[in-house]
Amino acid sequence: MIRLDGVGQVFDGREGRVTALEKIDLHVRGGEFVTLIGRSGCGKSTLLRLIAGLLPPTSGSVQVAEEPVTGPRRDVSFMFQRPALLPWRSVLSNVMLPVEIDKGSDRGKAAYRDRAHQLLELVGLQGFERRLPHELSGGMQQRVSLCRSLIRDPQVMLMDEPFSALDALTRTELSEELQRIKMELATTIVFVTHSIEEAVVLADRVVVLTPRPGRMREVVDIDIPRPRSLAQNAYVTEVAKISARLHALLSEKDSEDRR
Ligand SMILES: Nc1ncnc2c1ncn2[C@@H]1O[C@H](COP(=O)(O)OP(=O)(O)O)[C@@H](O)[C@H]1O
Ligand SMILES: [Mg+2]
Repeated sequence: MIRLDGVGQVFDGREGRVTALEKIDLHVRGGEFVTLIGRSGCGKSTLLRLIAGLLPPTSGSVQVAEEPVTGPRRDVSFMFQRPALLPWRSVLSNVMLPVEIDKGSDRGKAAYRDRAHQLLELVGLQGFERRLPHELSGGMQQRVSLCRSLIRDPQVMLMDEPFSALDALTRTELSEELQRIKMELATTIVFVTHSIEEAVVLADRVVVLTPRPGRMREVVDIDIPRPRSLAQNAYVTEVAKISARLHALLSEKDSEDRR
């Protein structure tokens, strides 16, 4: 579904030239859940922006659904750390926003409204359709943002630390909901997180990036059965074991830096 071959990204910034990414070869299968971890500045957001078509790569090629990416695609959605809801619009009309912006939407508006109601129900927000964003908690707002990014049934969802601003409990809940939704919709997901455990719980594969320049250090398959939860003892040990290994991989580079 997603193919990056020999991708490199160089920025000419005020502080000189930054090689944000180098030699990235990543193939993501349809329906796969890939998480990206690495310390800040290692190029995670840049990688997502390349897949989203928000940035052309300096070198190499990026493909989605076997087509070269030349700009944003309707079937690729992006979700950020902040919910970025329009404060004057109701929950329902925030979810409907992508449909209203894109006049060429293929289904009728009524069908999308039905879909919006379904999605809100899926994340436990039925009954909140008419509320305004400020009447909701941070977790609820991010659920609305999740529904908005699902409204057009994207083939690919790119998620840049979407749960980072939430408290630990809400974060765990949302990560469980996302897994449930993922199993239902078979969307391909690339998900960036700072949390190693979150990366392990969610992923089919975890990609470890190391900084300066951002390179793929390792790709780790996660074979734990789903649905997974940190609230279930059965998975905790396994998640902890893999997390410890990933932790070691991430700090390896650190010690090299200090030398
Ligand atoms: N538009 C830009 N112009 C110049 N430098 C950039 C730009 N975007 C990102 N960078 C640099 O590229 C590197 C990777 O950034 P980013 O992808 O945001 O990292 P991450 O998301 O992993 O924290 C950083 O050193 C950052 O400063
Ligand atoms: Mg980032």
